[in-house]
Amino acid sequence: MAEIVYGFGSSHGPLLSTAPEKWDLRAQADMENPAHPFRGEIYNYEELRELRKDENLGDQNQLSVRQERHERNQKQMDALAEKIAEVEPDIVVVVGDDQHEWFQDDIQPSFTVYHGEKVINTALDQEKMKTVQPGLAISMCANHPGEDHAYPVPVGLAHAIIEQAIGDEFDIATSSEQPKDEKGLIGIGHAVGFIYRRILRDKPVPVVPILLNTFFPPNQPTPRRCYRFGQSIGRAIRGWNSDKRVAICASGGISHFVIDEDFDNRILKALLQRDEDAIFNEPNAMFRSGTSETKNWIAVAGILSGTDLEMDLLDYVPCYRTEAGTGNAMAFATWT
Ligand SMILES: [Fe+2]
Repeated sequence: MAEIVYGFGSSHGPLLSTAPEKWDLRAQADMENPAHPFRGEIYNYEELRELRKDENLGDQNQLSVRQERHERNQKQMDALAEKIAEVEPDIVVVVGDDQHEWFQDDIQPSFTVYHGEKVINTALDQEKMKTVQPGLAISMCANHPGEDHAYPVPVGLAHAIIEQAIGDEFDIATSSEQPKDEKGLIGIGHAVGFIYRRILRDKPVPVVPILLNTFFPPNQPTPRRCYRFGQSIGRAIRGWNSDKRVAICASGGISHFVIDEDFDNRILKALLQRDEDAIFNEPNAMFRSGTSETKNWIAVAGILSGTDLEMDLLDYVPCYRTEAGTGNAMAFATWT
């Protein structure tokens, strides 16, 4: 039977790939955003700044602090890249979210398993780079290679995951063909693209992309449902008649674009302690915007719950870019 040999989690936000002195590129967008979700409520920038003024978050937005945190991020992503090269799994199952990449408002599946024979991380779109909001072109470079890269998909495992999910009463969506737009094939989304580029270093390791709708109302699955779906994936992998060594990846999170260190500490502690009740009791309303990607980690915790791999939090790095507390809190972890 196949064996789950390793797990890892990595944030994937644009700030990871942005020089500290340029973190302000996204600050203007934060100031203009009228609807920041934070602890179940919605605030405009000024309201958020007022609400959080006693936290003195401006102190954590000094260039010297940013630099120190940027270095910690790079160090941990390098460590994850080195570790996976050392583990050399036959397959990586990546749990990420689709953020209006493959799926739009016309159809938004809660859970999707991709089972085409290959998946393409498309080349950087130079034209599109000129049209995106300030600060986002940098992340496009972090997610896309110079030319199209094709990665094999272990179809047998993808089918085993689908069959197990249906047997476990998860009526998931499946896809065996990348969607297209007027320019052609739409590449795999940022959650998988970033992992390919920054952690797998473009090595064509076979991958099964699993996409969650963490972001878009009204059908985001609850933390409990994400965890249970993960457990189903775990059963599928361990029951798959193969001698392959499989690694699992959680992509994205933790809190952003309003950082909430209390939330992050609670969730990371629950993951470290395998505390299912703490995960299930976290209200769905806490998982909004980028923070919702924490559900990718919860699904991975579900996958790994059936193994004796232990989580090690390599680092937690809150990267503030405004005094109102906007930015992205990064987390990096392994399960060994
Ligand atoms: Fe993301």
